[in-house]
Parts: sequence; structure tokens; C-alpha cells
Amino acid sequence: MPDQNVKELTTDDAPIKARGLEGVIALESELSSIDGQEGKLIYRGYDINDLAEGASFEEVVYLLSNGELPTRDQLDDLRQQLRSERTLPTPVMEFLRNIPDDAHPMAVLQTVVSALGLYDDEANAMDEASNRRKAVRILAQIPAIIAAFDRLRKGLEPIPPLEDGSMAHNFLYMLNGEEPGEAAERTFDVCLVLHADHGLNASTFTNRVIGSTMSDMYSAIPGAVGALKGPLHGGANREVMRMLLEIDEQGADPAKYVREKLAAGERVMGFGHRVYRTMDPRAAILRDMVQELSEKEGAMKWYEYSMAILETMRDEKGIDPNVDFFSASTYYQLGIDPDLFTPIFALSRTAGWTAHLFEQWADNRLIRPRAEYVGKRDRTFVPIDQR
Ligand code: COA
Repeated sequence: MPDQNVKELTTDDAPIKARGLEGVIALESELSSIDGQEGKLIYRGYDINDLAEGASFEEVVYLLSNGELPTRDQLDDLRQQLRSERTLPTPVMEFLRNIPDDAHPMAVLQTVVSALGLYDDEANAMDEASNRRKAVRILAQIPAIIAAFDRLRKGLEPIPPLEDGSMAHNFLYMLNGEEPGEAAERTFDVCLVLHADHGLNASTFTNRVIGSTMSDMYSAIPGAVGALKGPLHGGANREVMRMLLEIDEQGADPAKYVREKLAAGERVMGFGHRVYRTMDPRAAILRDMVQELSEKEGAMKWYEYSMAILETMRDEKGIDPNVDFFSASTYYQLGIDPDLFTPIFALSRTAGWTAHLFEQWADNRLIRPRAEYVGKRDRTFVPIDQR
């Protein structure tokens, strides 16, 4: 059944027209599926709640790209491959040292992932084995890019990666210079699991569009990073924290603050979704994690502000939170700077992006929609010296 938002287009031979491609099925995927009415999300058939509870991020990486959960040996093998690729090429590290401290971290990530391709002999190889190695390499190196940039801009030396430990453990170590506690590592790992894939969202679509031209992974992933940067997509988590900090600084009443924002016609970041018509299941998992973290630390204010905003948005607009809403206070309570929240989203989503590229290339067709031309026609050309 076509979505009711999809209207018949009678001109220009195009079969359908949908603003923002809403409701359009652009391709088939076996990777993840969202039930927007029920608030359910599955990766490869597994419920996100079960994965968040029982799987590590590396297991999810394997699941997404191979279709099955790994055996212990398969997981050890993937972990070993990821560890062996953690170190950035020397010229890339030198490049990072010359980046302005006030650069947007997503712009840095986009540029540096692209630069990684310049030092990869397999950058343009399109056979499956090379692409699988590149997927591991890019995923393994993104944490090093984010951590090195953050330390350099703070006047600190980048920390070389550990030779063991999970991606979550190693990232927090490279960022903070000390090994994380078990609880922080587990919380961060769950965040990575929750962000790994999410249907044909804007950045995944961007990634598949680039892949569909048979361009390479070092072109598709930076393109996806660029799409994720926007505040209507992954950039929302940073904006959520900005709002919570502003409420705190002003000593504002969160409910009043949100009502004023809505009255001014502004959007409240971290709310609303193109597909969900109820609470995003990832937001529910993160809400419980924030509550637990806050209780453990005896600092409830971020949780309390968040819940007050949530109630107000439900009362005023009937809109529920999305994944970005509670991930903001989760990362903040792990001591992570707000402008790194979106790069961390990208870190995790790289698992989905690369898996989507394999799926795209396994049965490729160029993604090339149409625009309805609504401009002028039949104009008479006037030479430049007569205009
Ligand atoms: N705050 C206030 N109002 C919102 C809102 C928000 N966060 N999200 C949606 N709405 C309102 C819109 O104003 C619109 O109301 P109207 O019909 O009275 O004009 C209605 O809900 C539908 O919004 P629309 O922008 O058409 O939906 P969409 O499917 O294009 O947008 C988002 C989806 C995610 C872009 C949108 O919800 C949004 O901007 N959210 C904030 C950014 C964010 O958190 N992004 C992360 C997504 S995971």
C-alpha cells in the first residue's frame, strides 16, 4: 500500500512525488527495521532491547555486516582485526596537529576520514575482500581521529591506542588518558550498540547514494558524516546538551523554557522523528541509563530537566523524544564534551554505513530520483551585452 503522503505526479512522466522522500521505499534492506507505530527497532531480526542488554558493539558490527551473530572465534577474530588497525597513519596524525583548535569536530572527522583514503593502498579497490578490510580499518581509526583531535585542541598529546580492550574501552582511554571503569565502558558500549543502524535515515541514504555510483568507501563515509552533522539529524544531540546547559545556567524552569521556545516557533531538539509516532525505543533505553548514572553519581539535575522537558513536549505538542534526547545527558555524564556527541554517533553509525555499502554493492542500481521542474520555460536567450 503506498503511503498516503505519496501523491501521483501527472507531469514529466515521474510516477510519484513525495516531499523529503517521505514514505518512499527506495530500496530493499535486510539490515534494520523500524516499526514507527509500535516503537520497535530490529537489527537483522534481533530486537534492539535484547542487543542493548546482551551484545557488545563489536558483536553488532559483525551482525550488521555478516547477517548473523558471531561465534566466540569469529568475534575474537574481528576484535583482533579492529585492534590491529587502530593506529592512524603518521601523515594523518601530522595533519591533525595542524587543524585549527576551533574547527567543527564533524568537519574534522569528515576531512580526516577522507584523508585516510590517501594513505590506503586499497582505497580504490572495489573487490569484496578489500572493501571488508577497509570497513574494519575506517571503523577502527575513527575513535583515534576523534580522541586525537580533542586532545590536541586542549593542548594535550594524543594517546596511542591500547593493544587490547574493546572499542569502547580504548576510545575512552584515548580520550581521557585513563582507563575507564567497567560501568562507564558498559554505558558507552550500549550507546554504540544503539546508534549502529537505523533504516534508511538521511546519512545512510547519502552513503548508499554515493556507493550506488560505484564510488569508494572513502568517498561514501565522509559524505555520510556530512549528512549526519546537520542539526535535524545527528547534530541534534549536541543541541540538546546546549539547551540543558542553558537551562542550568539561567536557572530556568525547564517546562517554561520549552513553552517559550515553542511559542517562538522554534523546534526543541531531540524530539520528533520522521518514522516514529511513539517513543523511540533507543530513547527509552537511554532514559533508564541516564537515571541510573545520575543516581549513582548523586547528581539528578540533567535527568530531572530532561524529564520535565519530555512531559512538556508531550503535553504541548504530543511529540516524543528520539535517540538524541537522552544520549546527550548520558555522554555528558561520562565527561564527554558536547561537540563530540555527534562524532561519537558517527563512530557507531559507521558500522551501519559500511554494512549498507556491502548490501548496496551486492545488488547495485544507481540511485537517481527525479525533481519536478517548477521553473520558467520557453525564455528567449539575450546575449550578455544586451542584458
Ligand atoms: N519541536 C517542535 N515541533 C516539532 C518538532 C520538534 N522537535 N519536530 C516536529 N515538530 C512539529 C513540526 O513543527 C510540524 O508541526 P506543524 O505540522 O504544526 O508545522 C510537525 O511536528 C511535523 O514536523 P516535520 O518537520 O514535518 O516532520 P519531519 O518528519 O520532516 O521531521 C525531524 C522530523 C526529526 C526533522 C523533526 O522532528 C525535528 O526537526 N526534530 C528536531 C531535531 C532532532 O531531534 N533530530 C534528530 C532526529 S533523530
